Amino acid sequence: MADIRPETMERITNSVLAQKFIDEQVAAVREQVGDKKVLLALSGGVDSSVVAALLLKAIGNQLVCVHVNNGLMRKGESEMVVKVFKEELHANLVYVDAEDRFLDKLAGVADPETKRKIIGNEFIEVFVEEAGKLEGIEFLGQGTIYPDITESKGVKAHHNVGGLPEDLQFELVEPVRLLYKDEVRVVGKELGLPDIMVDRQPFPGPGFGVRCTGAITKDRLEALREADAIVREEMDKMELTPWQYFCVIPDFKSTGTKDGKRYMGWPVVIRAVDTVDAVTAEATQLPWELLKRMRDRIITNVPGVNRVLWDISDKPVSTIEWE
Ligand code: XMP
Repeated sequence: MADIRPETMERITNSVLAQKFIDEQVAAVREQVGDKKVLLALSGGVDSSVVAALLLKAIGNQLVCVHVNNGLMRKGESEMVVKVFKEELHANLVYVDAEDRFLDKLAGVADPETKRKIIGNEFIEVFVEEAGKLEGIEFLGQGTIYPDITESKGVKAHHNVGGLPEDLQFELVEPVRLLYKDEVRVVGKELGLPDIMVDRQPFPGPGFGVRCTGAITKDRLEALREADAIVREEMDKMELTPWQYFCVIPDFKSTGTKDGKRYMGWPVVIRAVDTVDAVTAEATQLPWELLKRMRDRIITNVPGVNRVLWDISDKPVSTIEWE
């Protein structure tokens, strides 16, 4: 499939258009793949989940999903991927615990693009290893969407586009590569995926790697995971659904007090944005009571954190992620 979305391509906004897209892609995937096997990078995010459902429909058990726990996932995320895909959808799923491997490679690396490339390359290495253990794999499925392609040209090397080594032995299968996020959701619903999965907010491929800014440390990553879980829980309780909401922990400390003594701690940044296609975005106006509840829970429960900030920046000029 081409890299450029034709101007004549209709925006997928309803069930009829989604079904047409699915029929076309099922046929295209069957033709591309034949009787070979596809290895799919299943992060559990919306994009890769929709691709998994599409490929399951097209080629059934010729699909082998690999979920790599890179240590940069949200709290409870890997467990949920295994539950939904293995137990409920009966997909072939290989679970790989690669946390130590990723964190070792990232140790001391502060540059955002270098971090992205390391994370992307490590993913590919894990896949190549997993493929080596399986028979007949010739294709690599990916949840690349259109903004991944367009934005990789100028701003950030999104891992599923920028990190591929030139000698990659797999041919790529990327059935939603010309779609925007809102269209991917419509297609996912049409494929019968549960709302809880399709309506999930997007999560970047490099995960917390781009939200634990600068050089990643295990303690700061753990603090981020806890703070992020609190923010998502409080937001869900209020039934507020900004398009994307999460925390960032920058790699600097500021002064606070604890037991009457000076105490240097990290800040937690709360970020919530609304957008249609992630190309532009507006900071969501959050209720003050909600912000205070998040602040209190974070300060009380997350070790190492002594300050909570709210990011009110729009895109442009700020990107949604901090790195
Ligand atoms: P930015 O930060 O560029 O993000 O405004 C736009 C949307 O893309 C997500 N994002 C990524 N997704 N790999 C991904 O798969 C990446 O490297 C990546 N970087 C950003 C981001 O979460 C937002 O939804």
